[in-house]
Amino acid sequence: MSSFAHPPDEMTLRQAADSAGIRVGVAVQAGPLRNDATYADLVAAEFQSVTTENALKMEVLRPSRASFDFSDADAIVDFAQGRGLAVRGHVLLWHRQVPGWLEAGDFSREELLAILREHIQTVVGRYRGRIAAWDVVNEALLEDGSYRPTLFYNVIGAEYIDLAFQWAHEADPDALLFYNDYGAEEQNAKSDAVYALLTRLRQRGIPVHGVGMQMHLNATQPLNLYSVAANVGRLEALGLRVEITELDVSVGASPDAAQLAAQNSVYFNLGALCRALRGCAGLTVWGVSDAGSWINTPQSPDAPLLFDVAYERKAAYFALRDGLRGG
Ligand code: G3I
Repeated sequence: MSSFAHPPDEMTLRQAADSAGIRVGVAVQAGPLRNDATYADLVAAEFQSVTTENALKMEVLRPSRASFDFSDADAIVDFAQGRGLAVRGHVLLWHRQVPGWLEAGDFSREELLAILREHIQTVVGRYRGRIAAWDVVNEALLEDGSYRPTLFYNVIGAEYIDLAFQWAHEADPDALLFYNDYGAEEQNAKSDAVYALLTRLRQRGIPVHGVGMQMHLNATQPLNLYSVAANVGRLEALGLRVEITELDVSVGASPDAAQLAAQNSVYFNLGALCRALRGCAGLTVWGVSDAGSWINTPQSPDAPLLFDVAYERKAAYFALRDGLRGG
């Protein structure tokens, strides 16, 4: 397969992001990084950081209680180091993609605490100094702002969140530690609860440094940017950095010109918004090309990303680049 060749006289996304003082990243998978030179070269040419889409999830890392499988995660971190890219580690605690042995183990509070502590300290410790930022806790809240009744919450209580950040910080004191969630971009009941949670964590001296806004969006339902800006502002005032961590913009199976134009507007506006807001430090898209997107499936085709299935830059790419440039 041929290598990705960016036109030499044109600005890349990473150059546009540099001009904005922010970091642009992409979620990657180990398989194509190993097997597809075009994918790997594109990532290195266009982005400043990579997020592990699945490789650091507990289900992948922990085939059994006694063992760790770091093969995919190592492949991504080694690639990033070799190409001079930063790594966002996704994710230490999430209620999905939890291994069966943990779900079914009927562990006591003390046992579960010991398992999670060992997990977080082993994983963060292994990549100490090589993974710059971690999504420590993902999606701990529901839409109404209450705690999601996950295994972790049900057995340990809300204290699991404090402990996860403390254990991660002990294992790598220099890593930036994030709370990550969806549907908490605008000011609403959930983002109010995220703000309240982060306020309590900061008051208790818990080492949390940032909030990730996932932003799995739909072209026909754009966010209210004033509301997002106000939300970023209140988090920044707590001393936190905000990153857009999982951006994609669904257009459905056979988008018409208006839907594609709406998709472009979302990308442009979010690039421009992140550039304009001092509190917004980075923007990561959730996948390289439409071929690898989690929302593009045979049952429900979609084209939510910046590159098409042949790795050609789409209008969405140019829209985001223009937004990042402040155009
Ligand atoms: O790796 C196995 C493969 O061995 C097996 O043959 C195949 C059969 O289905 O499954 C493969 O695993 C899949 C994995 O993606 C890797 O492709 C899982 O079934 C599939 O469930 C998993 O989906 C991931 C999803 O999280 C799981 O909930 C998506 O790739 C990933 O993009 C998505 O990412 C999440 C974020 O972590 C958190 N925020 C929401 C976001 C979208 O759901």
